[in-house]
Amino acid sequence: MYDAAFRVLEILESSDGPVSGESISNKLGISRSAVWKHVKELKNMGYEISSSQKGGYKLEQKSDRLLPHEIRKKLRTRFIGKKMKYFENTPSTIWVGKKLASEGDAANLHGLVIIAEEQTGGIGRLGRSWVSPAGGIWITIVLKPKIPVDHVFMVTMAASVAVARAIRKEFDLGALIKWPNDVYIGDNKVAGLLLELSAEADTIHYCLLGIGIDVNIAPNELEAVPSAATSISSEVGYDVDRASFLARILREFESRYLLMESEEYEPVLREWKSLSCTLEHRVRINTLKTTFEGEAIDIDEFGALLIRKDNGKVVRVIAGDCIHQ
Ligand code: BTN
Repeated sequence: MYDAAFRVLEILESSDGPVSGESISNKLGISRSAVWKHVKELKNMGYEISSSQKGGYKLEQKSDRLLPHEIRKKLRTRFIGKKMKYFENTPSTIWVGKKLASEGDAANLHGLVIIAEEQTGGIGRLGRSWVSPAGGIWITIVLKPKIPVDHVFMVTMAASVAVARAIRKEFDLGALIKWPNDVYIGDNKVAGLLLELSAEADTIHYCLLGIGIDVNIAPNELEAVPSAATSISSEVGYDVDRASFLARILREFESRYLLMESEEYEPVLREWKSLSCTLEHRVRINTLKTTFEGEAIDIDEFGALLIRKDNGKVVRVIAGDCIHQ
């Protein structure tokens, strides 16, 4: 529906000065009122376009929204993000993913990236809510992995490595991973990941990988987040290009995901360990049933954290809160 609008955009992008409505209409073989309509559509998508009687239309600033059109320009993946669904506002991209996957054939949705500018009912780990104002990256990737169910947690590990790596490469910030899959900069959380799985016996119907990153979020908006949080913009001091950043994350994720589909888990596990700020630290673990302390000594290929308790006994933790001491 917006194809013609994006062709108008391409003309404006490739010109340094203003372009007359007449010249655009001639180039595209559409009427001048259609040009005007498409300019209006582009403005509604957040592109700043000035217009003057004399000169014509000029692109002043590209949109700061996380538009699929902008992401696609930078995307270098084989299948992740080849299909995208964009929402200005939705309760939760996980919720959208669940609805789509349960209504249709999940195999057709493999690699679909669902993007929301804002979420009104963002879902966090352990049934918590997730604050998702405009300016963040709130996505869900729908996958039908060809990996054994008991290794599916590795998908989230690959994704947390991808997010940490992308932050390091794009912004030169020292992002690290806190078990299970939170991404931290210093003492503050910048991203959280969540995996929802639909499976029975040894068959995975689909999984929904939710990724939430505080990107261009002002410090006063982060006050609504219950635990210590930071954003990329707070760390670097300016608003960053979210479309390029997301394209990088998707690429980093896909390369690791493909490794795992060829049963190469070791490189992802090794990378996760090298980026971990939890391993070799004293931690307190809160599970639904119990609380205990010890040293985080390792993580296994199923994503479980191994804790050496003070009595020397090693315990395997598959889910829970991990508090660094
Ligand atoms: C956590 O608790 O650390 C995980 C947070 C995951 C948040 C993301 S934002 C995109 C996707 N949609 C949601 O509602 N949640 C996930």
